[in-house]
Amino acid sequence: MPEKYVYNAIIARRTIRKFKQKPVTKEILSGLVNAARLAPSGGNRQPLDYMIIDDAALGVELFKHVRWAGYIAPKGVPKSGEMPTAYIIVLEDKPVKSTTAAYDVGAAVQNIMLAAWEEGIGCCWQGAIDRDKIRELFKIPMDFDIDSVISLGYIAETPVVEEYKGSIKYWLDEAGVIHVPKLKLDEVLRWNKF
Ligand SMILES: Cc1cc2nc3c(=O)[nH]c(=O)nc-3n(C[C@H](O)[C@H](O)[C@H](O)COP(=O)(O)O)c2cc1C
Repeated sequence: MPEKYVYNAIIARRTIRKFKQKPVTKEILSGLVNAARLAPSGGNRQPLDYMIIDDAALGVELFKHVRWAGYIAPKGVPKSGEMPTAYIIVLEDKPVKSTTAAYDVGAAVQNIMLAAWEEGIGCCWQGAIDRDKIRELFKIPMDFDIDSVISLGYIAETPVVEEYKGSIKYWLDEAGVIHVPKLKLDEVLRWNKF
């Protein structure tokens, strides 16, 4: 039996907010967008574009406009020496007029995060972003909606999954490890009847 690489990556993947300061090559970064490009798309309309930011100075500017780890801020925000080394901005090309763009984003971003995980690269998918500032910074035309930002880099922390016990809020322990509660399988899975 071949190893279950995809399933194992899905199970192991966690949001990463601390990164090694080793650059991710352009080849790997464009491979991540290639994985996104081939994701399922409603009506195959393909309304999404992707901007890779791998320039260090631009990354410093973009970092100012993305929010980190609402439940554990400011402790969960990457510090100097832990910063993302690249970013992917997910854009929706509005004139394409897709009615499923949000679903398309979900599929595309998950492809990126899983393909990244296989390379030892972690991602933080961020919806809490200052879209006006990001538009201004990169001169993004109004025809494009700024959906989200994926901050990424080589993984420098090991968050762990916890069984849900009444709160969905992830937390930090004294050693700085993030614990992420997930609902139990038998709480979300129904067999043959509701
Ligand atoms: C649509 C979406 C938006 C998110 N926005 C943010 C964000 O703005 N900042 C952040 O630190 N994490 C963000 N996250 C990451 C979630 O906090 C994270 O997925 C969740 O806590 C579960 O952890 P896990 O990804 O390790 O399973 C976002 C996740 C999704 C799916």
